Amino acid sequence: MFVARLSHPVDFEGWRGFARRFAQALVAPSAIDWRVGDHEGGLFGEDLVEGGEGRALSVPRAFIALAQEVICHSDPARFDLLYRLLWRLQEEKELLQIASDHDVHRAAALARAVRRDMHKMTAFVRFREVDDGDGGEAFVAWFEPEHHILEKVAPFFVERFTTMRWTILTPRGTLLWDGRELKLGEAATRAQAPTSDAMEEWWRTYYASIFNPARLKPKAMKAEMPVKYWRNLPEAELISPLIADATRRTQEMIMSAPTSPQKRRPAASTPDPAAPDLSAIESWEEAASAARSCRRCDLWCDATQTVFGEGPRSAPVVFVGEQPGDQEDLAGTPFVGPAGKVFDRAMAEAGLDRTQAYVTNAVKHFKFQLRGKRRIHEKPNAGEVKACRFWLDLELGFVKPQLVVALGATALKALTGHAGSLASARGRELALPDGTPLLATVHPSYLLRLPDEQAKESETKRFITDLKHVGSLAPGLRLPRAA
Ligand code: URA
Repeated sequence: MFVARLSHPVDFEGWRGFARRFAQALVAPSAIDWRVGDHEGGLFGEDLVEGGEGRALSVPRAFIALAQEVICHSDPARFDLLYRLLWRLQEEKELLQIASDHDVHRAAALARAVRRDMHKMTAFVRFREVDDGDGGEAFVAWFEPEHHILEKVAPFFVERFTTMRWTILTPRGTLLWDGRELKLGEAATRAQAPTSDAMEEWWRTYYASIFNPARLKPKAMKAEMPVKYWRNLPEAELISPLIADATRRTQEMIMSAPTSPQKRRPAASTPDPAAPDLSAIESWEEAASAARSCRRCDLWCDATQTVFGEGPRSAPVVFVGEQPGDQEDLAGTPFVGPAGKVFDRAMAEAGLDRTQAYVTNAVKHFKFQLRGKRRIHEKPNAGEVKACRFWLDLELGFVKPQLVVALGATALKALTGHAGSLASARGRELALPDGTPLLATVHPSYLLRLPDEQAKESETKRFITDLKHVGSLAPGLRLPRAA
């Protein structure tokens, strides 16, 4: 029996070197004992002379790609399987095409399991913020991969979280990124990982706000988010109560009155005899009152009410969103629905006091399409944005903020006419025509719509960073402890 000693569980080059020597020396698969680490005993593969009795070896390129995935599997028999395939491929050139072959089938299954594990790691790693000891920010996550995937999956995290300093601890090793260099460290234990930080609450709020009880499919959900990952996911503790409550909430949704529009009223072109004289508006209060009977475009016809801005008249910062949503339309107050919750949470994370900000929208009426009983948000068109600019100008004129923040592309377009992408304006210190400083960032509902958990996490962090930028330009908005 020959012993082939590999230096670590994914020592592909080591395996390849041994496999080449064994195959050339015609050592049959059953005569090799593949081991990882320093083991004693046996006739070592290293003793075989390179080139040995020499037969020319050839394998298809697809085999190398397959082997590089299979070697990451935790099955101890994987080295043996791969060598058997390599051995057989010397005679059976089309072997990899025979999906029903036992070895080919097994190798494909192992490769699939590795890819799945990598996918789960990219989706379910949750970073927790820690103090790095130098007063800086660092992030640590704990994850339990089933296979030896760390090196393979590392580029994903480096690319996604390039600007953060992070560590991913796992029982199979540690990935450390200091912002410049990736290091692979020792295996870790769960006790080394922090258990909670402020982001936990964020994840829970976010998850609860996107959970739709009427669409609950526990089986599909568990397939996508297997239960074994739950203990490391801050949002997971909500799953059972939300599932338990889903039937009641669905029933409640069915029974509750639809949030349907009022009956269509006369066309907007009909002048309202009771319309106030807009040219005589002299205060914010008069503006808010006059806006209640606005007929500057047709959106008033279907909306429940005008949703004017809200916040202190002396606010240092005015945040401008797009238009009220379903819940804002019913409440008459901006940013109180799911996007508002995301906004509140991010403000708090950034150390900003929402109650000290003036929050409004580019358009003051809810525009929607009715689908069944549901009112689905519809983007306001350029004419509607332009018509409503009148109110936004009044709000800005009465509040006179030190800084205006555009939340999303519609707000940016309304404020500046900027026709380029939001991305090109984001992060830059811009200004309104009257010189008031302006920043642009994403709309909080963009974070709610992102389908991928990792993207959500990184985009949320970027949004919070943008809000911290707001706080640096307008310190009056900072919460006392952050000031
Ligand atoms: N989206 C907005 O742009 N504004 C709101 O008030 C709510 C959701």
